[in-house]
Amino acid sequence: MFTERGVWLSMSTPVELLARIERGEDLDAAGLATLLSLEEGADLERLFALADGIRKRSVGEEVHLRGLIEFSNHCRKNCAYCGIRLDNRKVRRYRMEIGEIVGTAVTAAGLGYRTVVLQSGEDAYYTADRMVELIRGIKKSADLAITLSIGERPKDEYRRFFEAGADRYLLRFETSSRALYARLHPDSSYDLRMLSLARLREIGYQVGSGVMIGLPGQTIDDLAMDLMQFKELDLDMVGIGPYICHPDTPLAGSPDGTAGMTFKMLALTRIVTGDAHIPATTALATLRPDDGRERALRLGANVIMPNLTPQQYRQHYLLYPGKICLQESSDRCTECVSGRVQSVGRVVSRGYGHSLKLHG
Ligand code: 5AD
Ligand code: SF4
Ligand code: FES
Repeated sequence: MFTERGVWLSMSTPVELLARIERGEDLDAAGLATLLSLEEGADLERLFALADGIRKRSVGEEVHLRGLIEFSNHCRKNCAYCGIRLDNRKVRRYRMEIGEIVGTAVTAAGLGYRTVVLQSGEDAYYTADRMVELIRGIKKSADLAITLSIGERPKDEYRRFFEAGADRYLLRFETSSRALYARLHPDSSYDLRMLSLARLREIGYQVGSGVMIGLPGQTIDDLAMDLMQFKELDLDMVGIGPYICHPDTPLAGSPDGTAGMTFKMLALTRIVTGDAHIPATTALATLRPDDGRERALRLGANVIMPNLTPQQYRQHYLLYPGKICLQESSDRCTECVSGRVQSVGRVVSRGYGHSLKLHG
């Protein structure tokens, strides 16, 4: 699976690997796989403490809140894991009007947010012209950074959105295993994903990507390669959450990813990326509602993305079942998340929380 050199290096013990991290040295895939295999105990606690130290030194005590607006659950794709995939006929589809999305963004600014994340399925109703109108509308009405999370589009559209004022783009590569990627994505390719990420970077976006943890068939070596890929892509933001099985998909019946493996991936992501922005994700909070986000913040994460989608739509944007906050209001979630940030001794940032990375 790994090169001869990799196999040899994998002979390093966890203690040696942890010492290497402490000295600021890079790990290779075999070393990462060894650490991902740690069971609970002193070595794992040490790994988490090292990640927390790097978080503190590279991004500080501030936690950035990004207000998430899920503005359409229509999607042209059939990703095998996703609850709103095209072929799931049980989904009640909705689209928010542009004015309604702008209004939601203005409310977000009123609640203190400095970033909104506009997320949807891959929905052709929102043509490039409509997206430009939306982005301009928000920029005109509120002092907000805008992050887009709307999937694969042609490069000229990415450019038009950027020129209209979009600052950041989220596009997870989901897994670095080409074979697994192909199995899960009947209408897309790993190469197009990577090309899209390269185009976004070239245009000037702050680029976020990420993966799911515990996908059916995913191995520890795959996860180690995911970490190598985060570093290779020099990502501004890395989103990582557990895979959660949705019963109305082809993967029905498969086991969920675990919080434990997600914590290890979060810590190692902080260690390999240094100053990337890393959210404590809603999927993790869904597996561990009481303490998932708090633990993530203590082992590398520095971002939370509270759901600001108007209440009547929330229950229809279910990529996975059991999602938290379906009945809560945006005010309530903002308060709740701020309290959680403070409970771990951190502060909610008042800034935009732009990337700290200097590329090139
Ligand atoms: N479980 C967890 N995360 C999921 N996503 C999609 N479906 C699921 C699921 N069943 C994630 C993907 C996608 C992001 C928006 O949501 O990683 O990129
Ligand atoms: Fe559509 Fe995204 Fe779900 Fe894939 S993961 S089916 S692109 S909403
Ligand atoms: Fe919604 Fe806690 S984040 S209630």
